[in-house]
Amino acid sequence: MGLVIRNGEVITDTERYHADLYIEDEVITRIGKDLAVPDGTEVIDATDKFVFPGFIDPHVHIYLPFMGTFAKDTYETASVAALIGGTTSLIEMCCPSRQEDALEGYELWKSKAADHSACDYGFHMAVTRFDAQTEQQLRQIVDDGTTSFKIFLSYKNFFGVDDGEMYQTLKLAKELGVIVTAHCENAELVSRLQQELLAQGKTGPEWHEPSRPETVEAEGTTRFATFLETTGAAGYIVHLSCAPALKAAVEARARGVKLSVESVLPHFLLDKTYAERKGVEGLKHVMSPPLRDKSNQAVLWSALERGDVDTVGTDHCPFDLDQKRMGEGNFTLIPNGIPGVEDRVNLIYTYGVKRGGLSLNRFVDALSTRAAKLFGLYPRKGAIAVGGDADLVIFDPQYRGVISAKTHHMNNDYSGFEGFEIEGRPSVVTVRGKVQVKDGTFVGQQGIGRFLRREVASAASGEAHAG
Ligand code: URP
Ligand code: ZN
Ligand code: ZN
Ligand code: ZN
Repeated sequence: MGLVIRNGEVITDTERYHADLYIEDEVITRIGKDLAVPDGTEVIDATDKFVFPGFIDPHVHIYLPFMGTFAKDTYETASVAALIGGTTSLIEMCCPSRQEDALEGYELWKSKAADHSACDYGFHMAVTRFDAQTEQQLRQIVDDGTTSFKIFLSYKNFFGVDDGEMYQTLKLAKELGVIVTAHCENAELVSRLQQELLAQGKTGPEWHEPSRPETVEAEGTTRFATFLETTGAAGYIVHLSCAPALKAAVEARARGVKLSVESVLPHFLLDKTYAERKGVEGLKHVMSPPLRDKSNQAVLWSALERGDVDTVGTDHCPFDLDQKRMGEGNFTLIPNGIPGVEDRVNLIYTYGVKRGGLSLNRFVDALSTRAAKLFGLYPRKGAIAVGGDADLVIFDPQYRGVISAKTHHMNNDYSGFEGFEIEGRPSVVTVRGKVQVKDGTFVGQQGIGRFLRREVASAASGEAHAG
């Protein structure tokens, strides 16, 4: 039996109109005014609500062995939290360490998600070592529909690659037409600065930012762009956090480098003073790149409005307070990361659209459509169109609430955004036509999420960044 969504205001990356949507067999089959539907059709009234395409989070960590511990979410918890917050597809970083076998890692990550996710999911495959065997395995992984790689220029000896390995990864990506996502910080500088600060007795979380200053990120960004330019591969900078790195990316793009930019939720709303707070409060707010001087927030918001920042991810990374305390007395041992997969849509809507200058169309583009296009999911995802998956967010702009770990659904005992007001939230969320969320509650079915076999995207197969 079908489902009809009546009288909502449909918002896509380019359009805005009132219509009914009719859904059968997981896809949208009709769009129009006052659609006639068979008796017995389930009706959702979307009067006075927005209807958005399901949001895509292009950067999450769920299963993550890192810094001597494991991030806390499972696919059961993270996918439900994502859906309650309006995100219907996740792209997780598949991150086996340098010491591990890439293909075994890939199978392990897939097994953590298979039959455990309430929303659809895919992976960016981290290349943490490059040798002949890894190369063969990467070809297999791309054939399996995982059409993007991830490299870390930081986290030396664990995830990090050297310049030679970066070069080889980009050459392979260019040959296969896949896009390479990159964490851009200079590993050597970070490690030297960390040791110097510790030797001076500077051990608290407030020293995390000075150990990886903006220059260190600008260097990584510039180097990645130079390697893209030399190899002709397409790249995507993850979690760009500051003005000098943005400048480097925008300049590279102006030269024709195929480069897209993501910034993540914490950098839009939190600044380095959070990591300077006393006790565990400071530890909570340690991530990399670090929370920056507040002046960078206005830079990121306006770059997002213009499209110089293409996408917004979360870098969802749920370590709990006991884990954060592992770094008490030595900031280099604090597990890096801030959770947020549940909060991205509501917070960017509130502080970007409602209280800022972000248009509704650009909001949809940055949180859904552009990621779908860059990562080979469009127009199946990221659109509201006949024939596309019925992943839909019926969003209530009248809702008022406050973010708190007491009420969130992430498997994590703190929120980086505790006390932030939200103005609006999803009232109904569907995954391929199945109602999974109603009014902040998961009412659907666990395990229905499917692995996303992705196409090779146009950006990677030749087209330069547009927009
Ligand atoms: O601090 C962060 N971002 N933790 C997760 C790992 C990464 O660098 O994305
Ligand atoms: Zn990173
Ligand atoms: Zn990350
Ligand atoms: Zn652009």
